[in-house]
Amino acid sequence: MELTEIYKKGKEKLLAKDYGIFLRGVETEFVMRNNREIMDRYTFRQKAIDAVAEPDTSVEVLGVKLRTPVIMSSMTMPIPAIVEDGLMEVARALKAAGSLMWTGSPVPSDLKGLKATGVPLAGNVKPLKERDKIFKALEEFQASGVDWIGIEIDSGQGTKVLDRQMVFDCSPLSFSELQEIRQAVQGPLIFKGILSKEDAVKAAEAGADGIVVSNHGAHTLDYLPHPFQVMDGIVEEVGGKVVIIVDGGFRRGSDVLKGLAFGASLVGLGRPILYGLAADGEQGVRDVVTSITAELRRLLSMVGGKDVKGLRRNILVCGF
Ligand SMILES: Cc1cc2nc3c(=O)[nH]c(=O)nc-3n(C[C@H](O)[C@H](O)[C@H](O)COP(=O)(O)O)c2cc1C
Repeated sequence: MELTEIYKKGKEKLLAKDYGIFLRGVETEFVMRNNREIMDRYTFRQKAIDAVAEPDTSVEVLGVKLRTPVIMSSMTMPIPAIVEDGLMEVARALKAAGSLMWTGSPVPSDLKGLKATGVPLAGNVKPLKERDKIFKALEEFQASGVDWIGIEIDSGQGTKVLDRQMVFDCSPLSFSELQEIRQAVQGPLIFKGILSKEDAVKAAEAGADGIVVSNHGAHTLDYLPHPFQVMDGIVEEVGGKVVIIVDGGFRRGSDVLKGLAFGASLVGLGRPILYGLAADGEQGVRDVVTSITAELRRLLSMVGGKDVKGLRRNILVCGF
C-alpha cells in the first residue's frame, strides 16, 4: 500500500476506537501543528549534475547495523490493542525493513520473544516516582539482551493528551540519579526528550551514549519547540560526543532527510508505525518504513548525497 493511503486508512481506523485519543496532542495541540509547520520551512538545494543514482541508506549506530536511518520511536501502548499480537508484528516488520524497534510503556512482557525475531531492540524506562522500579526495569531489559536502553528524561510531569493526564506516577530525574542509572547499565544508554543544549551537555556529562532530541510527539508539555528549533545549538555542544537521534512529526522521506541534515544519525517514527499497523498489520508497518526509505534515497541522490553519513546542513534552503 502507498504511504498516503496507509496514513489515511490507519488514522481513520485508529480514530474510530477509544484509543484514538493517543494520536492527539497535549492541551492546545500547538506542538502538533508546530511540528509540521517548522519542518515545512525547509526545502532542498538540488545538485543534479553528477548525482549518484542509488545512494546507500545503511548506517551503523552504537553497535547496531541498519539498512535505514528510519527507526521506530519508543512506544508500547496502544499496539497490543490495535492488533492482538501487534508487538510481534511490528518486530517482524521492522526486522524485514532493516530497522530498529524501540518499545515504550509499559515494558512488554515478552522482550525475549521480540528479540528472537532478530530485530535490533531498544527499551525505554519512564522516570517513575518509585525509583526502585526504574532499576528493576533496567535489570529486566539487560537480562533480555536489548541492544540499547532509553531513559525518558522528559516525562518528569507524566504525559498528557488534550486535557487528560495519562501518566501520573513520574517525577523529574536529577543529574546524580542519571549517573546512578549510567552505573547500572552496561550497554548503550540513551536519554530521550532533550530540547536544550544545557540538557544535552548534562546528558553527555552523565555518561549518555546518545540522546533523542524530541518533544515526545506532543504528549508531555504544551508549547515545546520542534527539534529543528533547538538542534543547531545541541549539535554544536555535543555533536561527535554522543549519538543524536531526532523524532517528532516525521512522516516522509523528505522529513527524514531534513533530520539527517540537521545532524541526526537516526530519525524516529511514532504515529506512522501505528498507522501502518492499523492499516495493514505487519505488511503496513513494513511498507511505512520501506516507502519512507525509498523516498529518502531518491531525494538523497538529487541533493548530491552518496550515503546518509556526514550530510551537511547546507543541503537545506530555509524558505521562510
Ligand atoms: C501512542 C503513543 C505512545 C507513546 N509512548 C511513549 C512511551 O511509552 N515512551 C516514550 O518515551 N515516548 C512515547 N511516545 C512518544 C514517541 O516515542 C515519539 O517521541 C513521538 O511519537 C514522535 O512523534 P510522532 O508520533 O509525531 O512521530 C508515544 C507516542 C505515541 C503516539
